[in-house]
Amino acid sequence: MGARNLIVCPLMDNFTFHNPTRLHFGRGQIAKISQELPSQARVLLLAGGGSIRENGVHSQVKAALGSRTVFEFFGVEANPDYATLMPAVELCRREKIEWVLPVGGGSVLDGSKFVAAAVHFAGDPWRILAERLSSLPHALPIGAVLTLPATGSEANGAAVISRRSTKEKLAFISPDVYPRFSILDPETTYSLPVRQIANGVGDAFAHVIEQYLTYPADAAIQDRFAEGVMQTLIEVGPRTLAHPTDYVARSNLVWAATCALNGWIGVGVPQDWATHMIGHELTALHNIDHARTLAIVLPSLLQVQREAKRGKLLQYGARVWGITEGTEDARIDAAIDRTRGFYGSIGIKTRLSDYGVGPDTAAEVARRLASRGMTGLGERGEVTPAMVEQILRLAA
Ligand code: NZQ
Ligand code: ZN
Repeated sequence: MGARNLIVCPLMDNFTFHNPTRLHFGRGQIAKISQELPSQARVLLLAGGGSIRENGVHSQVKAALGSRTVFEFFGVEANPDYATLMPAVELCRREKIEWVLPVGGGSVLDGSKFVAAAVHFAGDPWRILAERLSSLPHALPIGAVLTLPATGSEANGAAVISRRSTKEKLAFISPDVYPRFSILDPETTYSLPVRQIANGVGDAFAHVIEQYLTYPADAAIQDRFAEGVMQTLIEVGPRTLAHPTDYVARSNLVWAATCALNGWIGVGVPQDWATHMIGHELTALHNIDHARTLAIVLPSLLQVQREAKRGKLLQYGARVWGITEGTEDARIDAAIDRTRGFYGSIGIKTRLSDYGVGPDTAAEVARRLASRGMTGLGERGEVTPAMVEQILRLAA
């Protein structure tokens, strides 16, 4: 039996791991900006709709910037838009900006990565997204102040940009846009509304699932680490919602969200990401919050993929939810139910109809993914457009 397992079980893949982001975690760490940025640097501070003015983060950042030459660009919206960001690109060119300093959530950080990459890009910057360019050696350096634990953008090279005029939402991933440093002060997140706290918990949970719930690869560290991050989110997510200024819960939530997508749990193992690709289409078409699209797609995807994911679904059920009784199929059903229930428990609804979206969107999402050549999603490339449609019909 052991020998047979050795033959049929895939092994951990070779990998090279390098995460260059220096993280400053904890209370009062915003002051570290002053030692991170060159004293003569010309800086563009990017921000969202104004939350950083209300919660005191902006004044802390300004104090840390001291006498540096700083330009400010507010108004980067949730699901940052290409049309919003291009004026920031032009401002950087005009004012010869040398550093980009996003202060906000994942949208502000992602928007800044695009701006940093676009400033010295020769040609139409939309190509960065349309062609998913990964070599962007002229990108400006980025330093980030994160105010919303969710995306992991503070310690990865990914960015997701929307283009509302064409209803597109596309990602690019490049080693050239990792933040050089990021500040993670859990107290900056106390002002988050419950909807955004829940979104953050739900997004981070899905990030772990996308890298873990695939097929076994005998990667013990990645598996145990992923299970630990999920168990931490299950524990501190509801606690943070109930007690927004509980520092212990909040600091663990912030760190869990970073660990969910800074590369550690994804090295050398198969990755899925079908839930995210389908979810991005739902945001582009129906303007549903990112995390909520994942909550709609994930339980149905697990159901449709239950045979392909059988081994890991059983492991997930046992180790994360303590499901050890019953037949294999009953345990898999229970694991999927607990996943759906977890989203419900943090106030995130899991059905398309909960968001006023009819079942017809299933065919439209499948068609759009196919038109982009995304005809084989998932860890084995087996999630066809027909299966995407099936998943969304099940999520109606
Ligand atoms: O704009 P402001 O006024 O700052 O308000 C924001 C925004 O309305 C508010 N907020 C942020 N920090 C706050 C706060 N309000 C009060 N107190 C604070 N401390 O929260 C709202 C949502 O912010 P947003 O940045 O959009 O949320 P999130 O961090 O969830 O980012 C979502 C975006 O990240 C992308 C998503 O697709 C979406 O566009 N993702 C990026 C990833 C990456 N770079 O690796 C991976 C993810 O899977 C995801 O796709
Ligand atoms: Zn996500």
